[in-house]
Amino acid sequence: MTKMNVIAALIATAGVVAAQTSNYKAPAPVQPLPFSHKQHISNGLDCKDCHAMPDPGEHATFPATTKCMACHVAVKKDSPAIQKLADFHKRGEEIPWKRVYRVPDYVSFSHRVHVINAKATCETCHGPVRERDVMQKEKDISMAACSDCHKTAGASTECNFCHDPR
Ligand code: HEC
Ligand code: HEC
Ligand code: HEC
Ligand code: HEC
Ligand code: HEC
Repeated sequence: MTKMNVIAALIATAGVVAAQTSNYKAPAPVQPLPFSHKQHISNGLDCKDCHAMPDPGEHATFPATTKCMACHVAVKKDSPAIQKLADFHKRGEEIPWKRVYRVPDYVSFSHRVHVINAKATCETCHGPVRERDVMQKEKDISMAACSDCHKTAGASTECNFCHDPR
């Protein structure tokens, strides 16, 4: 087979595999604190207030406890959940959030490139987060899903584009 045929065969196989395992939705992990996006967005916060995409913009990141304590030093400070939050803060520990969306190490992915250059919204890859009390994986971030959008948007689908051994 020529190189192009091998690549085409791999893409076809990937499509079949993805179709067979298309049940990409996963149950919500049990989180260390009952954090609700809906409740916080309705209190006037925006995604970028907590997911700042610091340089180089690869990761969206999670907010530091200082960010939470700016309000919770007063808001609901007698609730057990907020006391647990305050304890993490006092001990200088990050909250051990369980991950919902994750790609393997051998995949390159940059939030900044997708949000700023490709103008993709958070909802495209994560669903209607602002309406959710509990986060669970509800959007597909498999190779087939990534490649489908790359085809539609005219971005590369060459293997090295996403599997660059950096
Ligand atoms: C007040 C801070 C705050 C705001 C505002 C906020 N988030 Fe979050 N986000 C968190 C925290 C804390 C977690 C971890 C707990 C969880 O998964 O619910 C999280 C988790 C997530 C996750 C799951 C990440 C993973 O892989 O585990 C996604 C996706 C996400 N947020 C998207 C958004 C979007 C989109 C918005 C805007 C609509 C937003 N967030 C607004 C604090 C915030
Ligand atoms: C093109 C798809 C795509 C878009 C658009 C996107 N994300 Fe993500 N997001 C992902 C993928 C893929 C991961 C897993 C990344 C990893 O494992 O390194 C992820 C992970 C996350 C995480 C977990 C922490 C981290 O940095 O890995 C948070 C929080 C998050 N996204 C928030 C957001 C927010 C907020 C927006 C909108 C500003 C957004 N995402 C837009 C695909 C996307
Ligand atoms: C802008 C202020 C603000 C920030 C910043 C903020 N919160 Fe909140 N949070 C609130 C408000 C307001 C409520 C709802 C209180 C109520 O039910 O009356 C709330 C509710 C909660 C609750 C539910 C408490 C309970 O017992 O009902 C948890 C848990 C929580 N927040 C965690 C966090 C975490 C973790 C962060 C940081 C990632 C954070 N909050 C950042 C304002 C904030
Ligand atoms: C909403 C459509 C869309 C989705 C979904 C999407 N991409 Fe992209 N991606 C693009 C576009 C458009 C570009 C080109 C952006 C530009 O012009 O810089 C791009 C660029 C990239 C780049 C090049 C980054 C760089 O440094 O220039 C990589 C790597 C990449 N995507 C990986 C992924 C992976 C992995 C996934 C799935 C987890 C994914 N993409 C999902 C549209 C998408
Ligand atoms: C647009 C981004 C993108 C492109 C282009 C891409 N991949 Fe992937 N690939 C991924 C992602 C994301 C995963 C992780 C899938 C998961 O965790 O479910 C992956 C996983 C894989 C795996 C692990 C096994 C599997 O099927 O899950 C192999 C092997 C692979 N890719 C080979 C290739 C080959 C060969 C090409 C070129 C024909 C290619 N990839 C092009 C994004 C991409």
